[in-house]
Amino acid sequence: MVIVELEEVRKVYPLGKVEVEAVKSVSFSIEKGDFISIAGPSGSGKTTILNMIGCVDRPTSGKVVINGNATKDLSDKALTTLRHETLGFIFQSFNLIPVLNVRENVEFPLLLGKAKGTKAEREDWIDYLIEEVGLTQWASHRSNELSGGQRQRVAIARALVTKPHIVLADEPTANLDSKTGEQILELMKKINREMQTTFIFSTHDAKIVNIADHVIRLQDGNVTENLRKGEALNAGTGGRA
Ligand SMILES: Nc1ncnc2c1ncn2[C@@H]1O[C@H](COP(=O)(O)OP(=O)(O)OP(=O)(O)O)[C@@H](O)[C@H]1O
Ligand SMILES: [Mg+2]
Repeated sequence: MVIVELEEVRKVYPLGKVEVEAVKSVSFSIEKGDFISIAGPSGSGKTTILNMIGCVDRPTSGKVVINGNATKDLSDKALTTLRHETLGFIFQSFNLIPVLNVRENVEFPLLLGKAKGTKAEREDWIDYLIEEVGLTQWASHRSNELSGGQRQRVAIARALVTKPHIVLADEPTANLDSKTGEQILELMKKINREMQTTFIFSTHDAKIVNIADHVIRLQDGNVTENLRKGEALNAGTGGRA
């Protein structure tokens, strides 16, 4: 089942009198349960694409379809709802709230939307996620007492707390040493398998790209490769399977 589809997506940013064509004409699709890397050098358009999938930015032209919803047909309010109900986010710089403890950081997104289930069910789910990322002993520590790797584990649990279909992570390992970065990616992959959550992460680190089972490679705003492990999809043509 296709969960994300980009059709001839183009994004142009005005920059004074000129325009920067950050994404030229990009088409690809992501299957539910994919563990996919958007790979490419600095300036190739990775963040721009993740922002459009994350409904924080809209394409200049073309179509982005998330879980069956064409984002261009949605109002800002509907986009916000789609973002809350369908997407989880992990950031390069973790973006935790330093004065809150681990548990409170994980809980935070639940305070922004409509509460689902009973309080006891929500608390069990938060405990489960904290255990899943290996931080049970740290649950009552403030996030500013944690290492970078531990902070990113908190961010993973926080991204999952609303039970999103898709987790978006823009260079989630960029502020970590390479060994910790690999551990974080392996943890994301384990959760991807266990919960069938689709993970989309960007990186320019070749070693980390290898952990993905689907790789979209970008260069200057174009897709140069679209490869699902075990099958080659039309490389270089935008790669729509
Ligand atoms: N808000 C903006 N205004 C103008 N130009 C922008 C804006 N955001 C991005 N760009 C330009 O769009 C292009 C793609 O940028 P983008 O941030 O998507 O690349 P990236 O692959 O994420 O790079 P990095 O690896 O450095 O994070 C770049 O040329 C960049 O300068
Ligand atoms: Mg970027």
